[in-house]
Amino acid sequence: MKIAFVQMNCHFGHIEANLARAAELIESVAADLFVLPELFNTGYLFQSSDELQQLSESAKDGQTTRFLSQLCGRKNCHIVAGVAERATDGAIYNACVLVGPRGFLATYRKVHLFDTEKRWFTLGNKPFFVVDMGSAKIGMMICFDWIFPESMRSLALLGADIICHPANLVMPHCQKAMVTRCLENNVYAITANRIGSEERGDEHIAFTGCSQIVGPRGKVLTTATAREECVRIVDVDVTAARDKNLNSQNNLLADRRPNFYTY
Ligand code: ACM
Repeated sequence: MKIAFVQMNCHFGHIEANLARAAELIESVAADLFVLPELFNTGYLFQSSDELQQLSESAKDGQTTRFLSQLCGRKNCHIVAGVAERATDGAIYNACVLVGPRGFLATYRKVHLFDTEKRWFTLGNKPFFVVDMGSAKIGMMICFDWIFPESMRSLALLGADIICHPANLVMPHCQKAMVTRCLENNVYAITANRIGSEERGDEHIAFTGCSQIVGPRGKVLTTATAREECVRIVDVDVTAARDKNLNSQNNLLADRRPNFYTY
């Protein structure tokens, strides 16, 4: 199975241009699963609830999901992409969608909001879950979820083979931490980060690029540099994520001692 990240710059408020750029990057390559950055369609630094309201859309059948569905149909692939989701009750989530050739499949709502995201977004209100695509079991988490080991452990316990991780990273630690997370859980993880910066009002933020795909045993399979727009593809054996034995005596999941842990 070929899995990929799309590392790109995103222009705040220019949804159509961001969709077109993502499609351009995906159109010329072939993979089964692509991961795009967090909020890749809207940009990141919102200044008001009104602004977020205007740029948000339905995860199921909004402009972005419809666009990605058509792209998946043409390319016969699946895409995980970060969007600002407007739910039917009006709440707005920092979310990502899983879309395939036949359209919308699932939405994950970011459980751990980062910094000023808490001003605008509603906290994710649904547990981590896994989608069985046949060829692989897919789990989703978004950016800052990485700092909570429980995120990826929950997905691994649910049987995820591949963790799709759209990101807008600003701190330098995530890439190293994801190596540990993949070692702890023996899974694949695709971190799709963005590049560039945003300056809005008094706020300025720079995104760190260096997207990566890490495999079982914490092996780094491919990495982007900090500034390039690119797609990187790795051909993976999904079954390697299913053997949780570390050696003849230790199993990463079966050896856990939950009765001794504090929650
Ligand atoms: C982040 O969660 N966007 C840092």
